[in-house]
Amino acid sequence: MELRTIDRADVAARRVLVRDDFNVPLEDGKITDDLRIRASLPTLQWLVEHGARVICCSHLGRPKGKRDERYSLAPVAAALGEHLGREVTFVDDVAGERTREAVMELDDGQVLLLQNLRFEPGEEKNDPELAERLAVLAELYVDDAFGAAHRAHASVVGVAERLPAYAGFLLAREVEVLSRLLEEPERPFVAVLGGSKVSDKLAVLSNLLGRVDRLVVGGGMCFTFLAAQGNEVGDSLFEADEVDAVKQLLATAEREGKPVLLPTDVVVAREVSEDAERRTVAADGIEKGWKGLDIGPQTAEAFAGAVRDARTVFWNGPMGVFELAPFAAGTRVVAEAVAEADGFTVVGGGDSAAALAELGLADRVDHLSTGGGASLELLEGRTLPGVAAIPTA
Ligand code: 3PG
Ligand code: MG
Repeated sequence: MELRTIDRADVAARRVLVRDDFNVPLEDGKITDDLRIRASLPTLQWLVEHGARVICCSHLGRPKGKRDERYSLAPVAAALGEHLGREVTFVDDVAGERTREAVMELDDGQVLLLQNLRFEPGEEKNDPELAERLAVLAELYVDDAFGAAHRAHASVVGVAERLPAYAGFLLAREVEVLSRLLEEPERPFVAVLGGSKVSDKLAVLSNLLGRVDRLVVGGGMCFTFLAAQGNEVGDSLFEADEVDAVKQLLATAEREGKPVLLPTDVVVAREVSEDAERRTVAADGIEKGWKGLDIGPQTAEAFAGAVRDARTVFWNGPMGVFELAPFAAGTRVVAEAVAEADGFTVVGGGDSAAALAELGLADRVDHLSTGGGASLELLEGRTLPGVAAIPTA
């Protein structure tokens, strides 16, 4: 799917409203991962170079329609300015009088960043009144907020209905790469899914099952799979409500001859803590009192092998509790295999992106998605409101 991108428009001296996803992790006002800011740069640089008057907007966190200083975008304006090598004027207002004044003072090639869209109660409700106030700020609209493309919010869909709408380069590339996984992946195509909850991943698992050559399942959610096969999982994470759905998925996989690779060994501990007593055991019989917190070394090697043999790899979700050193090895081995793979590698946002960044491997994959929920919903086969709002090329 090819979206109409902003380079088709004449932007010189025109006011362009850019919806970014600057929802970055912050600790004590410091940005701890700036992937989303860096990913927004090509579009912003292009606009600046072509003399546009750039008005950036984004959400940050979930302030629920009220002003909350903890979610101010001020730190993002500073970081963005550094990356762009020019001043980014922060306006502590979303779409009121102060913003209108600042916009009127913009010169060609200058950049503004508005305050957090979610300080406005109308944003998440896609309130037409807010959409209108945002739309009148500009002559053109660019959506580059892939991470928020699954949200039918005022700044995502409402504004797109009111202004000539274009995709930024990030949104276009995300959609192109992720839809290629569904449409024409080079084979063999292997999907590696992890993360704690199987309920979050069932829809994507079932949509991918029909398209992959092999499914690899680790992370907390593998225990519901192991349990569905009749194994004891001790005190591991386990979603009883999902056992039937998982059984069905496994039956479909069997019928269609799609191998599902599950752990054969796991690292278990008495508690989720660095210094808890732990051991590596076979995955088919975890005793009561023990929880599985990582895939074992034999499993990690098998998963890495599946990744190495693939021509296309999609990875989403850690293999264990990788924030704690004793349970990080499985995720590390898989991450390294993905980084070294010859095939085309795509990593879904969120925790797997964080794991890659922590290991210094973020630049070693072909595509690191800036979307967590958005990339999963796209791979579930759903139409994202933020994508549907942009005309195709
Ligand atoms: C994300 O981080 O998942 C996106 O920025 C969307 O944020 P949300 O889940 O709060 O809508
Ligand atoms: Mg989210």
